[in-house]
Formats: sequence, C-alpha cells, structure tokens
Amino acid sequence: MTASTVDFRLRADETRLARWLDEFAALSEPDSGPGVTRLAHTPLERRAHARFAEHGTALGLTVHTDAAGNTIAELPGTAPGAPALGTGSHLDSVPNAGAFDGIAGVVAAMETARLYTEHDVRPAHPVRFVVFAAEEGARFGQACTGSRIAAGLTGAADLDTKADADGVTLAEAMRSVGLDPAGAASARWQPADWAAFLELHIEQGSVLESTGLPLGVVDLISGSTRFRLDLTGRASHTGGTPMHQRADTLAAAAEIVLLVESIATDSRHHGTRATVGRLDSAPGSITTIAGRAQLHVDVRDVDGDRQRLTAAEIVERAGAIAARRGVGFSAHALADASPVLLPRRVTDVVAATCAELGYAHRVLPSGASHDAQMVNHVTPTGMIFVPSRDGVSHSPDEWTDVADLARGTEVLAHSLLALDSAFPVPGSEDA
Ligand code: GLV
Ligand code: MN
Ligand code: MN
Repeated sequence: MTASTVDFRLRADETRLARWLDEFAALSEPDSGPGVTRLAHTPLERRAHARFAEHGTALGLTVHTDAAGNTIAELPGTAPGAPALGTGSHLDSVPNAGAFDGIAGVVAAMETARLYTEHDVRPAHPVRFVVFAAEEGARFGQACTGSRIAAGLTGAADLDTKADADGVTLAEAMRSVGLDPAGAASARWQPADWAAFLELHIEQGSVLESTGLPLGVVDLISGSTRFRLDLTGRASHTGGTPMHQRADTLAAAAEIVLLVESIATDSRHHGTRATVGRLDSAPGSITTIAGRAQLHVDVRDVDGDRQRLTAAEIVERAGAIAARRGVGFSAHALADASPVLLPRRVTDVVAATCAELGYAHRVLPSGASHDAQMVNHVTPTGMIFVPSRDGVSHSPDEWTDVADLARGTEVLAHSLLALDSAFPVPGSEDA
C-alpha cells in the first residue's frame, strides 16, 4: 500500500458504531443476570443476524443466510467472476458476556460496508460481509460451528453428535430456529470463490493495553482440546458415613481441578492454558456426599502437539486420582481444533496498512479461538485486534473504547482495499 492509497473519506463514525453496539447489546435473554446472554442457535441470535441483514439490504447489498445460519451480504466487484474478499465475525455470546466479543468485528464490517457504498468505493473483487453462526463453544462445547461448516470441517452427520446441557443436539437446535442442518454441505465455501478474508476482534487479553498500542495484527491462533470427565461414586449420608468409607466425587473433582491448574503452570507446559470452566455435582445436597460429578475441561495452546499431550496427561492423571479414591471415571471428547498460523501474505498487508494510516501496532498471537481460524482452511486469512480494557472478556466487564474500534475499522476498510490490489484478479493483466 502506498500513501496515495489512503482514502481519507473512509473515517469510521464512532457514534454509529456505538449505536450498533447498543442495539446488539439490547438483544439479550431476559432475566439472565448481568451482561449479554445470546447463545448459539437461539431466536435471539437469529434476531441479531436479521438486524445485520436489514443493514446490508438497506445499503443495497445482496444478502442471504445459508443452511448453517451464516448471514452473508455481498457488494459486487467490478471485475467479472473475481473471487471474493470477505470480513466478519459472530453475534452469539457466552452466558453473561460483554457487548464486544464478535460484535466488534460485525459492526466494523457493517461500517466498512456503509463507507464503501456511501463513498462509492468499488473493489475489483466482490466483498462479502459475513456473520458466522454459533461461534461460541459455551452451549455445545464445539466453537465456530458456522465457520467450521463453511470450511468443510464440520458436516451434517457431526451435528447430531454434539449436545447442550439439556441434551438438545446442534442439529435439533438449528432446526428449531429454521436452519437446515441436513443441508450443511450447501453452506461450504469453495476456495476458488475466495481471495482472502479478514476478521476484526477484541484482543481478549492485555498485551495491547499494557504496551499502549491501539492495534494488533494476529500471527497465530491457539487451538483447543475440550473434554468432559464423568465421576461416579456413592451418594450417602454426610453424618452417617465414616470418612474412610466414602467414594466422594466432589472431593475427587476438587483434586482434579487443582491437577489441571498445576499441569498448566509447570515448566513443561509454559504457554499452555488449561481450565475446568464447569463443575456439576449431584445430588447437590448439603447433607449428601456427592455421588456424581462432571468436569468440563478446556486446554488451549499455540503448540498443537503440546495441546493434545497435555489433554492426554490430564485424563491419565485424573483417572489415577479417581482410582485412588474408589470413584468410577470416564473421559468424553467434546471438541478439538488445531492452532493456526495465519499467512504472512495477509498479515503483512494489514501491518503495512496500519503503518500507512499512522497507527502503531504489534504482531501477537491469539489465546482465544476465532472463526478466522476455520476460514483460513479455505482462503488466506488475517486478524486485526483492538484493545480490551484490563484484558477482560467473556464477562459483563468486557470493554473496548469506541475510538479504538473506529481505528480498527479504518484499518479493516483500508486493508481490504490493499488486499484488493495485492491479490490480483485472475485473468487480469496483473495476475
Ligand atoms: C471463543 O470465544 C473462545 O472461547 O475462544
Ligand atoms: Mn469471539
Ligand atoms: Mn467468545
């Protein structure tokens, strides 16, 4: 990108961004406690997609929703038959989330679409503004379901194998909101149809804030291995049962929670993040020793081998804890995604765009999962990070200043134009 390609009309409107953030934040389950709760494959997630679709239609874009629930608004390119550039993120949330995770990237895409249409900016490649369905793994264990389907990593048959805490499968949840799990193959993206993709997202960590930098360019996205551990003991009277005659699943679970933490903090696993984010026990009575427990474990790493070895080590050592305590034990895989190295031919363009716009940035890895990770299986993909206050995310306290989001949006709008030049249209003189 040269200085002359900076288009000073492409200034993001902070008021508009803030209004859209507020509109999406208002779409939250009533009586769900603090923050935003808009889980994957719920009517509220669909309403948020409909709001995005309305915006795209009002701008004159062609909008459609695929069988997986991904909503795509397309601005035609000037070069006939050119593959598409794309940008977008997700609108579902974890329970009691903030208003920015995923939504920041969607409103940045909405604003980019507005800036292009309002100023008649017409790239040679078509530009697709995308909202992926069901990015969060909070409900079904598996993250990025919409983008996994688009990337061909999840097929129709897989959608019957993952269920939420109430036993509702992904396929059933999709059907309940009018989607078509059996038609998942029709939502698959073809590499030949794509040139490159960018996702803007909040950092969800504190690297940018602590270094005082407004922008990040992601080079590597962590993978995750998720599994459930089921413990079966003996429910019995807390007063009548002597301590040496117990098979207490909650005591075993407590030991396993600390095991997970200690494995991830030992020197062999520096950089690994392992968490028991959920622990359920039954019957859940103060006067009964817990007879059943379930732990949900999430192992994240930028090193895929270490990620899987850590998961295997946790299962083995948790099994030994259960055996020592006379507690039954089984492990169940929930989801697995590999870390992804994003291609330099995209990240370099984004970094150069930051420099051209005069915004300092740093290159950094992502500890969280993202749709970009899946999309990169189809087309070269990059990510732009904007700062998260105190590094907090998946919490009502999540916060990103709208000025930072506006800066990120300008980088996004210009980076897509830079990619439009950097990725020549096949068949053109430059190709
Ligand atoms: C997505 O938010 C994740 O859990 O990484
Ligand atoms: Mn997200
Ligand atoms: Mn998230």
